[in-house]
Amino acid sequence: MTMNKDGFKTQIKACDTHSLAEAVAYLHAGRAVALPTETVYGLAADATSSSAVAEIYRAKNRPSFNPLIVHVADQSAAAGIGYFSQKAEKLAQHFWPGPLSMVVPLTDQGKAAMSPAVTAGLETIALRCPAHPVMRAVLEQSALPLAAPSANMSGAISPTEAQHVADSLGGRVALVLDGGACQQGLESTIISVDDDGWRILRPGPITREEISALLGDEEKPDPNADPDTVISPGQLASHYAPSKTLRCNALDPQADEWLIGFGEIEGDDNLSPTSDLAEAAANLYAALHRADASSKARIAIVPIPLTGIGIAINDRLKRAAH
Ligand code: TXA
Ligand code: MG
Repeated sequence: MTMNKDGFKTQIKACDTHSLAEAVAYLHAGRAVALPTETVYGLAADATSSSAVAEIYRAKNRPSFNPLIVHVADQSAAAGIGYFSQKAEKLAQHFWPGPLSMVVPLTDQGKAAMSPAVTAGLETIALRCPAHPVMRAVLEQSALPLAAPSANMSGAISPTEAQHVADSLGGRVALVLDGGACQQGLESTIISVDDDGWRILRPGPITREEISALLGDEEKPDPNADPDTVISPGQLASHYAPSKTLRCNALDPQADEWLIGFGEIEGDDNLSPTSDLAEAAANLYAALHRADASSKARIAIVPIPLTGIGIAINDRLKRAAH
């Protein structure tokens, strides 16, 4: 149990019918709870309640211009909130439930139902149907759309274990359901998709190649070429950051650096001794948490190949090192 200075307690509970029912009761009461998903732990609250959504922003100290992903139980729940073009529908059929968030235009019905704080005033909304059995059980039992950012203080490393949540948000959230370590370990791929085409806003477990193969076309050109268009306001240059400085592509660790290795480069820790990128993704944030807690003053990490999910790993490392 973690307590803040005012005596507010954070409880980590193993998932069982009792703790699930307790989480659902909190959500119905307009409170936020931390839950495992297949990517990272999320801090969930009722997306239709502005006071519940405000609790998320407050607990994380998150800037209010950074919109949230809304998690739904299935495609039909999503279709009540956002407009699904043919391409979007195809993506949902193929990749949901799973680590893909789709940014689609808000429908009138969705606009009326969602708290405006969820979308930070945008005309689009990010929707995801997660695969983790605990998150799915809570979505089904609560019958609520759940806004859920990663369950960490804004800007810090995302949590892939229940204890990481308590370490970051201890005393700021009442309940953490413990579903063990997250299988993917990196946040969902975010894709913006409408009738015109699609564009990846945040690389993740579902790769550009997989999406392009399914839809049979290429990604749209980058609208960030126009500086007035903000597409993913949360994708700040500095993000996912440990408290110590991080040096990427390091092959020559200094005496005061904790080296995170990969494959044959052993290091103080190793993301995957067999050079398996999926394993490396699953271990990345836990390794950064360990590096932060180590006795060394700084962190260094060896080069990670830029293929498949390695692209998402390098994206997070770049922001963590910024
Ligand atoms: O795997 C995940 O996606 C995790 C789990 C908990 O589901 N959630 C997560 O949420 O990573 P968060 O809040 O840490 O990241 C959400 C990202 C932010 O960068 C935000 O700016 C972007 O999604 N986003 C949300 N709504 C958007 C919208 N309408 N347009 C563009 N970007 C949006
Ligand atoms: Mg986050």
